[in-house]
Amino acid sequence: MLELRNLAVRYGAVQALEDVSLQARAGSITAILGANGAGKSSMMRAVSGIAPVAAGQVLLDGRDITGLPAPARAKLGIAHAMEGRRLFRQLTVEDNLKLAWSFGARRVAWPTALAEVYGRFPILEAKARTLAGLLSGGQQQMVILSCTTIRSPRCLLLDEPSLGLAPIIVQQIYGFITEYAAQSGIIVVIAEQMAALALKVSQQGLVLRRGRVVLHGTSADLLRGNDGKALAASYL
Ligand SMILES: Nc1ncnc2c1ncn2[C@@H]1O[C@H](COP(=O)(O)OP(=O)(O)OP(=O)(O)O)[C@@H](O)[C@H]1O
Ligand SMILES: [Mg+2]
Repeated sequence: MLELRNLAVRYGAVQALEDVSLQARAGSITAILGANGAGKSSMMRAVSGIAPVAAGQVLLDGRDITGLPAPARAKLGIAHAMEGRRLFRQLTVEDNLKLAWSFGARRVAWPTALAEVYGRFPILEAKARTLAGLLSGGQQQMVILSCTTIRSPRCLLLDEPSLGLAPIIVQQIYGFITEYAAQSGIIVVIAEQMAALALKVSQQGLVLRRGRVVLHGTSADLLRGNDGKALAASYL
């Protein structure tokens, strides 16, 4: 389980996150929602160790990891697909995957790990020797997702995986995430601006506004009933 206890993130005078608590169980998907600047990415960065934690704690499977630097958290199995489709654009698809695998737990041998990725996304096998920077946005997102899963993570943080992609590609990406989460039994946390999309695949949702939690409940409750109105209002 991933647990946040009264987490706060500050960048100098900017208070990006304040008093955020959350429990995300293994085998479940948690959606982090909110408008631009709400604090979604800051929350993820605080979990993976690349944003300064000003107050509160982050626990992974009961262990307090708040004081650990990012590489140590990565070794414990926290994999973070950051916003803005970050990959090595000058390296081939396969080299991106190999690099990610080499930084992971290496629980699965390289040829098997690679075959798994290509089994899931055959287009990546066809583009294995293409520079990642030359791929389409959707294909780049497939590489990024695969770079996290190839590390056999315990906790997967996906920051706006749908951003800038065509609806059909978004469907494919989300189909993959849902299937992977169910089959791997790990903790999955997704930050999204497209609330309905993320709530459909997740079990719980948390809405941030100006760094604070304004709504938190099961995804089903947030999607319908009175909370549906509250969801819309929380974005205003
Ligand atoms: N490195 C930084 N230095 C200073 N302020 C920052 C930094 N990163 C983020 N912020 C500020 O912190 C707040 C939260 O930003 P954050 O990126 O976490 O929001 P977000 O919900 O991910 O937004 P978006 O949907 O645009 O990605 C915003 O006010 C933002 O301007
Ligand atoms: Mg963000």
